[in-house]
Amino acid sequence: MKKIGLIPLVLSMGIGNVQANEQDNKLISLTNNSSAVQGGEELFIQACAACHAKDLSGATGFNLKDGEWIHGEAPSQILTNIKQGFNNAGMPAFGAMFSDKQLQEVTAFIISKREGLANLTFKIYQMTDEKDVSVTADKLIKSGSLPKNLMDFEMPEVKHYALEFEGTLFAPKEPSKLFIEGWKIAPTTLHIDGQEVNKPFPQATTWTLKPGKQHVKFQYIVGDNFKQDWKKNLALFVTNEDKSVKLFGLSTRSDKIMKDTKILVTADIKPVIQRKKIHNLPTYSISVGFPEKINYAFNTRSCDVVGVWTGDMLNVGPNVDGRGKDGSIVLGDWFINKNDTFAMQSTSKCHYQKMTNKGIPAFFFNQDGVDYQLTTSNQSTNGLSLNYQVLSKSASPVVFDLPNNEKVQITSQDGVIKGNTLTITPNKTSFSINVSSK
Ligand code: HEC
Repeated sequence: MKKIGLIPLVLSMGIGNVQANEQDNKLISLTNNSSAVQGGEELFIQACAACHAKDLSGATGFNLKDGEWIHGEAPSQILTNIKQGFNNAGMPAFGAMFSDKQLQEVTAFIISKREGLANLTFKIYQMTDEKDVSVTADKLIKSGSLPKNLMDFEMPEVKHYALEFEGTLFAPKEPSKLFIEGWKIAPTTLHIDGQEVNKPFPQATTWTLKPGKQHVKFQYIVGDNFKQDWKKNLALFVTNEDKSVKLFGLSTRSDKIMKDTKILVTADIKPVIQRKKIHNLPTYSISVGFPEKINYAFNTRSCDVVGVWTGDMLNVGPNVDGRGKDGSIVLGDWFINKNDTFAMQSTSKCHYQKMTNKGIPAFFFNQDGVDYQLTTSNQSTNGLSLNYQVLSKSASPVVFDLPNNEKVQITSQDGVIKGNTLTITPNKTSFSINVSSK
């Protein structure tokens, strides 16, 4: 929840208004300029993310993407706030630190990240009986606005009713879905910009959204088949395209679920080990996070390093909640994930033996009859070294398939890289592979 700090009344209304409107329009149109928005994002990560979080969800500083503005929502006001800062609350003034262009870009970036509903209204209709699905104006019994911009399905006090919510939805720029979790069948319809959106099949629980800003009308007709109260209270989420990550909630229930599922795991002073399922990594991966803000995951089925990412380790909330259906989400940037191949070539299935943690985590496994131990060193936000010890006699040369990935660079002094393979010099009792950002 946001604390209301001291609000400096610097901008007086009136004279400044015309100028402010011009400035607002300029900043809004800047959100369509992708290089400006990208410049803004870079500045945000450098100067703002420490307090407002990289995904704008807030830390010591406020959430900047939920549409809730304590110090003014006009783009020009947001820009002014960034320039002047909030000295008493701990936010520096950025006006003298960066150019006007840079600060306009960071403002455009923030506006472009807006998510959730705005100007949300509701209508409740009294239906004649449980079979009645015709929503008509004469059945309207109550209407109003929802200042929190969350759909509240618990409002009706009658048995047979229809609920209608209407407002502006700010969806991600990337493909996304509207998803109802744990939904029991009752008629629902979604209109986007006046057009009904078809579902892949009648009882499907997802609809495809448009990217960015759109007008939505969501209708829900409830018969008498809802004996349990919680079933009435729909959990509506906006998710990524394949539904594997919940991005934000649209109803009171889903909003609460999202707030309860932020459980951050970070390595502060020593390495941290997690055995949780992670979004974008194969199952049976064990992940290790280092205070240097680099993390990797070892897969116990393939005995390979299947993931490397920078930044804070994980939000395990989605994995803890709802019987662990959803994978934990990495908090930083991927170097390598399941879309990349980074594997030791083998002729047989590997045998994972154990993991130890005597200060530095070590994985033990047998691949094609040879015993290995894997540890890491030289951790930094730019990468890490994977150190393999060969614990038994090595028979054939060790060859790795390397990822073909623009972000990551793989080097080794203990072998030769040709195309996408690394061949380790024969008869080495140990070898290292460096994984770093390009
Ligand atoms: C040292 C921490 C810190 C840094 C760095 C920081 N902020 Fe803030 N920011 C805050 C705090 C704390 C507040 C809330 C002020 C209050 O309590 O009134 C805030 C408030 C804001 C607000 C007003 C939000 C509202 O609801 O009206 C905006 C906009 C904002 N920050 C943008 C930025 C941008 C852009 C940057 C980087 C250029 C930045 N901040 C960097 C701590 C920080």
